Amino acid sequence: METVAGKPVVDRLVFALNGLRYEVAAGDVDPSMPLLEFIRTRTPFKGPKLGCGEGGCGACVVLIAKYNPAADEVTEFSASSCLTLLYSINFCSVITTEGLGNTQDGFHAVQKRMSGFHASQCGFCTPGMCMSIFSSLINADKSKRPEPLNGFSKLTVSEAEKAFSGNLCRCTGYRPIVDACKSFASDVDLEDLGLNIFWKRSDRNPDVSKLPSYTLGGGICTFPDFLKSEIKSSLNHPNDACIAVSREGWYHPRSIKQYYELINSGLFGESTKVVVGNTSTGVYKDQDLYNKYIDIGGIPELSNIVRREAGIEIGAATTVSRTIEILQQGCESIYSPNGSVVFRKLAEHMSKVATPFVRNTASLGGNLILAQKYPFPSDIATILLGAGSTVCLQVVAERRHITLEQFLQQPPLDTTTLLLNIFIPHWVSDSQTETNLVFETYRAAPRPLGNAVSYVNSAFLGHVSLDELSDTLVLSNLHLAFGAYGTEHAIRTRKVEKFLTGKSLTASIVLGAIQLLRETIVPMEGTSHPEYRVSAAVGFLFSFLSPLSKGITEPGKTLTMSSANSADTDDVCNLPLSSRRETISSDEYKPVGEPIKKYGVEIQASGEAVYVDDIPAPKNCLYGEFIYSTQPFAYVKSIKFKSSLASEKIIAVVSAKDIPSGGQNIGSTFMFGDEPLFGDPIAQFAGQALAVVIAETQRYADMAAKQAVIEYDTKDLSPPILTVEQAVENNSYFKVPPDLYPKEVGDVPKGMAEADHKIPSAEVKLASEYYFYMETQTALAIPDEDNTLVVYSSSQDPELAQSVIAKCLGIPFSNVRVITRRVGGGFGGKAFRSFHVATAAAVCAYKLRRPVRMYLNRNTDMVMVGGRHPVKANYSVGFKSDGKITALHLDLLINAGISEDASPIIPGTIISSVKKYNWGALSFDIKLCKTNNTSKSVMRAPGDTQGSLIADAIIEHVASVLSVDANSVREKNFHSYDSLQLFYPDSAGEASTYTLHSIFDRLVSTSSYLDRAESIKQFNKCNKWRKRGISCVPLIFNVEPRAAPGRVSVLNDGSIVVEVGGIEIGQGLWTKVQQMTAFALGQLWPKGCEGLLERVRVLQADTLNLIQGGLTAGSTTSESSCAATLQACNMLIDRLKPVMDRLQLQSENVSWDTLISQASQENVNLSASAYWVPGQYSNKYVNYGAGISEVEIDLLTGAVTLLRGDLVYDCGKSMNPAVDLGQIEGSFIQGIGFFIYEEYLTNSDGLMISNSTWDYKIPSVDTIPKQFNAEVLNTGIHKNRVLSSKASGEPALVLASSVHCALREAIRAARKEFANSNRSGSSPLAFQMDVPAPMTVVKELCGFDIVDKYLESLSTHELGTGA
Ligand SMILES: Cc1cc2nc3c(=O)[nH]c(=O)nc-3n(C[C@H](O)[C@H](O)[C@H](O)COP(=O)(O)OP(=O)(O)OC[C@H]3O[C@@H](n4cnc5c(N)ncnc54)[C@H](O)[C@@H]3O)c2cc1C
Ligand code: FES
Ligand code: FES
Repeated sequence: METVAGKPVVDRLVFALNGLRYEVAAGDVDPSMPLLEFIRTRTPFKGPKLGCGEGGCGACVVLIAKYNPAADEVTEFSASSCLTLLYSINFCSVITTEGLGNTQDGFHAVQKRMSGFHASQCGFCTPGMCMSIFSSLINADKSKRPEPLNGFSKLTVSEAEKAFSGNLCRCTGYRPIVDACKSFASDVDLEDLGLNIFWKRSDRNPDVSKLPSYTLGGGICTFPDFLKSEIKSSLNHPNDACIAVSREGWYHPRSIKQYYELINSGLFGESTKVVVGNTSTGVYKDQDLYNKYIDIGGIPELSNIVRREAGIEIGAATTVSRTIEILQQGCESIYSPNGSVVFRKLAEHMSKVATPFVRNTASLGGNLILAQKYPFPSDIATILLGAGSTVCLQVVAERRHITLEQFLQQPPLDTTTLLLNIFIPHWVSDSQTETNLVFETYRAAPRPLGNAVSYVNSAFLGHVSLDELSDTLVLSNLHLAFGAYGTEHAIRTRKVEKFLTGKSLTASIVLGAIQLLRETIVPMEGTSHPEYRVSAAVGFLFSFLSPLSKGITEPGKTLTMSSANSADTDDVCNLPLSSRRETISSDEYKPVGEPIKKYGVEIQASGEAVYVDDIPAPKNCLYGEFIYSTQPFAYVKSIKFKSSLASEKIIAVVSAKDIPSGGQNIGSTFMFGDEPLFGDPIAQFAGQALAVVIAETQRYADMAAKQAVIEYDTKDLSPPILTVEQAVENNSYFKVPPDLYPKEVGDVPKGMAEADHKIPSAEVKLASEYYFYMETQTALAIPDEDNTLVVYSSSQDPELAQSVIAKCLGIPFSNVRVITRRVGGGFGGKAFRSFHVATAAAVCAYKLRRPVRMYLNRNTDMVMVGGRHPVKANYSVGFKSDGKITALHLDLLINAGISEDASPIIPGTIISSVKKYNWGALSFDIKLCKTNNTSKSVMRAPGDTQGSLIADAIIEHVASVLSVDANSVREKNFHSYDSLQLFYPDSAGEASTYTLHSIFDRLVSTSSYLDRAESIKQFNKCNKWRKRGISCVPLIFNVEPRAAPGRVSVLNDGSIVVEVGGIEIGQGLWTKVQQMTAFALGQLWPKGCEGLLERVRVLQADTLNLIQGGLTAGSTTSESSCAATLQACNMLIDRLKPVMDRLQLQSENVSWDTLISQASQENVNLSASAYWVPGQYSNKYVNYGAGISEVEIDLLTGAVTLLRGDLVYDCGKSMNPAVDLGQIEGSFIQGIGFFIYEEYLTNSDGLMISNSTWDYKIPSVDTIPKQFNAEVLNTGIHKNRVLSSKASGEPALVLASSVHCALREAIRAARKEFANSNRSGSSPLAFQMDVPAPMTVVKELCGFDIVDKYLESLSTHELGTGA
């Protein structure tokens, strides 16, 4: 290695990980390695998970502690280990969830409470959640707040609700995680906490001693003494860390001078990166590897904080979190009644930037540099511009002070310029000139509390004084800054500032300002939602000016108080979260029916649970990443690679030509057909796999795949079919087998003839949805002797994975062992879509004769995997004047993508859900369109979700035509038991099991629906700029259990192992199987079942151990696996009972262990296998439920707040009410994502482009209903069900359509207020609202120009009155 004397390069790295010392020599680890990769591949710890690699999910969160030897002080903060580079943690201590607690040392209170509050399902997010919560606890405990009561932290309830904002969970719906976190809060009322294992609902006074104990301060040593000593001794040898390595390295200049020496040394070229927190990698992904890094975070001038008379100067390397603290302190220290309003508002706004774990390492300067170099939609640049900030730059030897505005306008800076600091003036009001300072900041973003960049943001500052002559307010010294709207950088709208300065603020002046603003802020070509952004900007200026203006109704202010029943506050986003959960546990089949905690949940929390990517890499393991097509239909002529550092890492490229002779190019299959593994010779759709790049690490493989340059040729090929309309033109359809095509009901022409009114043709469209399981698709393939191999796959159907792999390799099925232990979320996406990865890994391993692992990065996963079926529905409906519908005809176009997959079942599930109402007569024409898109597959409640929305859209359309309450139309069209039998002939069941009417009535009464609907009317009358809506939706969900195997074996020590075909994907299957085993064998267990549960171990699925495992999907696998377990247990009982009887002749009390030992001696077969096959009456049934949602919309931004959700769900006799409730709540929140948040966007070639956490927004904790009540009904005996239980995994998702319906109601109220007609100019109350309906759509439907219109009408009035 070359050395350059005197250059500050880091030659070795010392840090602590969970209290253990790690020393890494430079050269051993390349400087681009993220901390996460090091932890996961070089240490035994696996707690931090890779969920996105872009700072957007929180799965990788760890705690980092730093030590300041001068003050002998440790500071701790959470950080995303996927963005933090390993080298930046020199002399830091890192704690992962394993460091909090584990199986050997005992679990930590955070882990135990997460477990006890049922806050972990698939568990993939749980380690990150634990670390975010732990970090919030210990930081709150360090505050000077009063000591809390024993067992509590100093954290407050409202902080607890934000402690993990930014950590995504796709399973739980967040409510139980909030409860677990709140249980630590000093001001919590324990009675407000939801279902848990620590006390029963009936317990009058739950007390803290029942909770796993918590020690103030966290009870963990976050910074070990040995590292403190090393840090102290290194201070005595300052040159230790200052030796140079030049080929690859991490440079850490200690002064500006050293920085420029490095820059000028000629050693740093293209492959060098200058960093502070490196979080910008989450925003602008690295396109190649870097081999040199210059970390400028250690330059003292960049961390200085100087408090001056006029404001604060903040060093550019200061983190955003620290900046917030400084501003908060600065605000308090300003001599002014409310401190500095500027500092306070800046701090509040910055708290919505990114997430806590990004803000803790992201620097203020880094943000401004991004805003300067790129058109980055920075919040910080805009608000600091509004606050009139200046910056100090070092340009080689020169130091420059310029305004932030000048800084942003400069050409993009290069590495010769350092941003040293930012000066923020505090701008207090001036009592001498009698001017008041006003300062406001705004942002419109898909999520209210962050982890979502703004569509537009702004900050307004000015001085207000009273013009006594006109008795109006006048503004001066205005700064009106706007950013993120599709601009190169944030700007000040000087024309508007000038226009407003000195003018009396009246409606016509505000209108003039807004018209000028529309001319000034023009989004760049290609910006998404340009009109939306401009109209939201208009809304901001209007919000700012209206309180200062005469005669304008202020946004956010209620005109008169509305009824107390509805949440009534000016800031609904900040309403506290509350919930009520009702479950009934039954002890008839104990422990089945009890809300016991999830099987193995503590090890999920402690990070010890093993997912596929946690299996230690076998010797010689290689890693693969797909190269996919970006063209929809083209010959692939060649695949070459750019010359780059990443390309140098390529070991092999595996493609269709590497499939062994005798094998086939097959990557997926289901009963309707196969799908190829690679597009060869033609790429059939954008996102299709073309090859796999193999490298030594996953990151190298990912980076190398980005270097691919693919040459396509479309000569002689017809144009691709990308839309359902094009499919119709080209007659491009998949066949639906006649027995799967749904059955029509009644005589539609006759029904239409009987109708008083008709809607002849109307449309509703539903887009796709991506699964967003937290663990992306992954597999590890290990070649074994004699042409066999073992594949660990994260699959919901290992049995089919085995067959696809075997067919692809041309070997017998018996040569392929597929093992699946647990899956980090599936939602249907790991059913047939998981086979490609498993098969590709197998082909690579087979060819290279080395183990090959593939763990798709989030972007590739999103592009390739597909999702829910988009549907375009056209309906004609006839109805009577009283709302009774007489006939419905539907034309459905379903986009199935390139292959059949499971699509032929979708028409049936859509119609099954549509049939939840009695339409009188129902006919349809359904086309399953084959297009050049990724294949669409089953996603949680496939088809039912779309069908339910279509049905309710029709009901609401009818109600709006008749101008009646939609609920009255719903009830008019509910099924009688007779019509239920007509519409669901195979599954209606007995009359006594038809519980929908009672569920609906119960929900309407327990949620005070009618009173709330009335107070919403009042609210809407009293509020001009905010509207509310409420809707109540019923559910009928057809369920079809499938056959399943089970084997129960008792070992000689009496411990029990159970194998089932079903896969644990977070739905609690193992827990129910464990309960079922204990229930069944409990007959021979002397103490009832006490102590028996702990003896049961449920094993991973292994396709050669237990065959015919089948598919885990459709919500029924838990019950069928339990049924098989019960059968197997009963076989054992039959064999053991005679032994027991004989033993009992000698002694009455025969222990289990004695029984087993005796049975073993007598050569009784202690392993029993069963294959449960549903019978004629148990193979189909329907589930019922109902949901009510109440929403509020902000008409100026389109922002949606879910005020309340109420669900009632019939679980039969729930096998585990805690598990079922978790499924119901979680699926409802997932449904909310589909209906309003998640935008699945493709480009003109059909390539998925919203392919990151940056663009694709699943619900986060700040978007769930403020009040959420769920009730699991126990509806008694269902004799054809497994111990009377009913499925819970999917149906509640469908109920989230109530949110969409409530939204429509709120929009309708808005359109009524502003009498806004839709684009076709028809009635303002009739409009089409597709799925999803995010805030941009809400705003559009309310009207982009409502502010202008309103001001115009006021101005006309002003003119009329001469005001
Ligand atoms: C998930 C996520 C969400 C986010 N959400 C938001 C949001 O809502 N609003 C928002 O405004 N921002 C948001 N950000 C952006 C975030 O604020 C920036 O990534 C961060 O501030 C950059 O700081 P850093 O220290 O990590 O910079 P780095 O990544 O280390 O560096 C970024 C660039 O700046 C250069 N640089 C850094 N400091 C200096 C300096 N002092 N002088 C010269 N050059 C320098 C580096 O060379 C590099 O080119 C988000 C980021 C992530 C990852
Ligand atoms: S993996 Fe780091 S935030 Fe998602
Ligand atoms: S439990 Fe949170 S993602 Fe599965």
